[in-house]
Amino acid sequence: MQAFVYLGPGKKALQEHAKPEITSPGDAIVKITKTTICGTDLHILKGDVPSCQPGRILGHEGVGVIDAVGSAVTAFKVGDKVLISCISACGKCAYCRKLMYSHCTTGGWILGNTIDGTQAEYVRIPHADNSLYPIPAGADEEALTMLSDILPTGFECGVLNGKVQPGCTVAIVGSGPIGLAALLTAQFYSPAEIIMIDLDDNRLAVARRFGATSTVNSADGKAAAAVMKMTEGRGVDTAIEAVGVAATFELCAQIVAPGGTIANIGVHGTKVDLHLENLWDRNISITTRLVDTVSTPMLLNTVRSHKIDAKLLITHRFKLAQILEAYETFGHAAESRALKIIIEA
Ligand SMILES: NC(=O)c1ccc[n+]([C@@H]2O[C@H](COP(=O)([O-])OP(=O)(O)OC[C@H]3O[C@@H](n4cnc5c(N)ncnc54)[C@H](O)[C@@H]3O)[C@@H](O)[C@H]2O)c1
Ligand SMILES: [Zn+2]
Ligand SMILES: [Zn+2]
Repeated sequence: MQAFVYLGPGKKALQEHAKPEITSPGDAIVKITKTTICGTDLHILKGDVPSCQPGRILGHEGVGVIDAVGSAVTAFKVGDKVLISCISACGKCAYCRKLMYSHCTTGGWILGNTIDGTQAEYVRIPHADNSLYPIPAGADEEALTMLSDILPTGFECGVLNGKVQPGCTVAIVGSGPIGLAALLTAQFYSPAEIIMIDLDDNRLAVARRFGATSTVNSADGKAAAAVMKMTEGRGVDTAIEAVGVAATFELCAQIVAPGGTIANIGVHGTKVDLHLENLWDRNISITTRLVDTVSTPMLLNTVRSHKIDAKLLITHRFKLAQILEAYETFGHAAESRALKIIIEA
């Protein structure tokens, strides 16, 4: 089969690869129909994710059809259409019993990281019963691809952890796919204001179409002052960090209102300062989270019933044979205006 393989920092290729086989009774083999590229895949290609070693097939998102199941799989059979979660979870360990699937002792974020992933014709999914979701008849598979990672991430790590409530004010720093997913799902709770902050005017224009009440381009270094002015000096109840660099976390700390919450989503590769000398008396909370994908069934219903239009996030489409071109497009989002790219296997 064809597979996109990480070959070490800066090196990648579409290669001929052996088809995966069932290695444990809980496994399923899924024939991929659609997959996509995540910002985290770019982090891996740069060499930022040491757990992902050269030779690994990348990808942790996608939809497909069950090709084979192990003897212990009871929820799925050959031919079923399935949504793949970016998080594999046994459902039985102490973390899974707390619905903290991201920390499953025999799972978590392993797909396209410590085991081969979805940017291929076939993928092996461990703990299939608890890591796959049935695709309802007639559902839009491209839209559902947004449910493997970005929608649950924006919702769980940003909106739920950030305690977004009716009438509150929210700022989301980072208007990439994850920030936009937080923007879409924050609107379940009818916040009064959602301010989106980014360096890219195109992405801010997208954010306004997706429901942002205002946008701030932070390139001039004056975003904190702009947000304080917009909120009459109060700051925001929820500040969601959706970039993963020190400057954007520190911006969240500057604009959070007394009693508010900073919900960090971004993957941080370098040290970030926490200015407790400014924050100690402000009654704030800071949350971090690796997405658990426990909200996937609920989000699936909201996508199916068009409460959110996940397809809005899709800007480009490629075939698996063109995946190198797809990575070029995704990696140069400022020029290509790419958000999510569908790759058809
Ligand atoms: N916690 C989790 O479970 C989880 C899951 C998936 C992704 N992530 C992380 O979420 C983050 C966002 O993911 P994405 O796919 O949307 O990334 P992305 O790179 O596509 O988007 C990031 C956005 O931030 C903007 N940006 C960069 N520097 C900025 C700055 N200094 N000020 C303001 N804006 C700035 C960029 O213009 C871009 O629009 C990444 O760090 C990713 O690794 C976390
Ligand atoms: Zn991802
Ligand atoms: Zn577990």
